[in-house]
Amino acid sequence: MTVSRQAVHLTSHLDDTYLRQALRHDVRTGLTSTPKWLPPKWFYDAAGSDLFSRITRLPEYYPTRRELSILRRWATDIAARSGADTLVELGSGTSEKTVLLLDALAATGRLRTYTPVDVDAVTLDDAARRTSRRYPDLVVRAVCADFERHLALLPRRGRRMVAFLGGTVGNLAPSAREVFLKELRATLGPGDTFLLGADLVKDTRRLVAAYNDGAGVTAAFNRNVLHVINRELGADFEPEAFEHVALYNPRRDWIEMRLRASRPMRVWIDALGLPVSFAAGEETRTEISAKFRPEGLRRELVAAGFLPGRHYVDPTGDFLLILAHA
Ligand code: AVJ
Repeated sequence: MTVSRQAVHLTSHLDDTYLRQALRHDVRTGLTSTPKWLPPKWFYDAAGSDLFSRITRLPEYYPTRRELSILRRWATDIAARSGADTLVELGSGTSEKTVLLLDALAATGRLRTYTPVDVDAVTLDDAARRTSRRYPDLVVRAVCADFERHLALLPRRGRRMVAFLGGTVGNLAPSAREVFLKELRATLGPGDTFLLGADLVKDTRRLVAAYNDGAGVTAAFNRNVLHVINRELGADFEPEAFEHVALYNPRRDWIEMRLRASRPMRVWIDALGLPVSFAAGEETRTEISAKFRPEGLRRELVAAGFLPGRHYVDPTGDFLLILAHA
């Protein structure tokens, strides 16, 4: 039996009451809007996190592999430049890629604390325990939170590097991104750094294929939000009656995922006392995943008060990591 010397600490800002209230609010707002929409954070219950893990291994979905290749090559350089003793990871999920950063930070001899932050408590808890077993001297302070709402509540101790990997920043629309980056900057002090991973603009066919895989895993992931609403809010969606749609919006440089009603439907959302009608062919937007150009992203970081330092692009030019200083 392995016993870690340090316990795993878990703080939650998302108790059941909060979660259900936030979900209620988002579902009411999104499904009474025209056009209808739902925020992507609600994909990630335990089943959704699992589906996303499968997505990261699909042949069409390149971002995870590209980011891993950058980290394999550059994690030591990133760790040295950051000088961090504390790694805070937003949207940490399974923390699979984090091992590369933690290894590099541990090798500097300074690493003390890892704070994974995720909305999915199950996946977070698993990842925190796994990480703690791998690094027995590391203090793991997992925080179940929504990075759009709870940045100010994250631990402030230590010399921090905040990592926001995978291109998840692309889930935020430009105005929300601006707010997020400014709020994050406000929580950081001298010596702290921000490691940001972003997917780059590229050939449209490859982009669309990454969000419309042949095996249908992304389609299942997309429909999962309806299963979540059924379970949490007592709704009667028939997820299979919605078709998965992924398209690229070249004007905004983002992928949009939508769920298209295959026929007219009337859905009852019990917890809201809300009936929602869908016309045949009506589309509900469930995610945007913005794609970036290095200069554009550097400018956004500067506008938020960061000093962008080195950036790292993988050899195929698909994906970018930037290390910015507070
Ligand atoms: C986890 C937000 C980075 O936008 O590529 C994958 C989520 N959605 N396939 C992305 C996702 C559909 C993913 N992020």
